[in-house]
Amino acid sequence: MSRRYDWSLRTLVSLLCGITKIGSTTIAETTEYQACLNSQCSSLDLGTRSLTGSIPNSMVNLTSLTQLDLQNNRLTGTMPTELGASTVLAYLYMHTNSLTGTVPTELGALTALTYLYMHTNSLTGTLPTELGALTALTYLHGGEASEEEAVSDTGDAAATAKAALAWLCSGGSP
Ligand SMILES: *[C@@H]1O[C@H](CO)[C@@H](O)[C@H](O)[C@H]1NC(C)=O
Repeated sequence: MSRRYDWSLRTLVSLLCGITKIGSTTIAETTEYQACLNSQCSSLDLGTRSLTGSIPNSMVNLTSLTQLDLQNNRLTGTMPTELGASTVLAYLYMHTNSLTGTVPTELGALTALTYLYMHTNSLTGTLPTELGALTALTYLHGGEASEEEAVSDTGDAAATAKAALAWLCSGGSP
């Protein structure tokens, strides 16, 4: 690799990393989340905000939350087991992110859950049988249906690209 090429590659990578840093906010850093922690809100709408990082464990303290919308962000990490502690959460939108790991069995304890959207992530494994206990559940969109495969594939490709970029931006360390 010539020096010149190496230099342009570095420039490109630092440019890309600069772009991904712009507006890089975590859930915990949003004013909406802070307000919810302080005053027990019933709805938290953080969809399509380019949020990064993982879903904070302090979510367990949002005990009045009936609707949680985290869709279409750049969230990573696993679905927190703490979410399962709520008896009032009815709408849970976590689709179109880069969440990994399996769907926690604890979600089977969300007795009020009606809508559960988690498609277009990088989740692995099968749906826990515990979800069968959710009698209120009306809409489950996990991306398993064959007609959703095209959408999931696009999501996976995007997630892979994002992961590769994150790896580059972190200096290439695992
Ligand atoms: C929940 O709130 C309590 C009281 O403010 C705090 O001590 C605790 O650390 C919080 N839990 C989490 C997981 O952040």
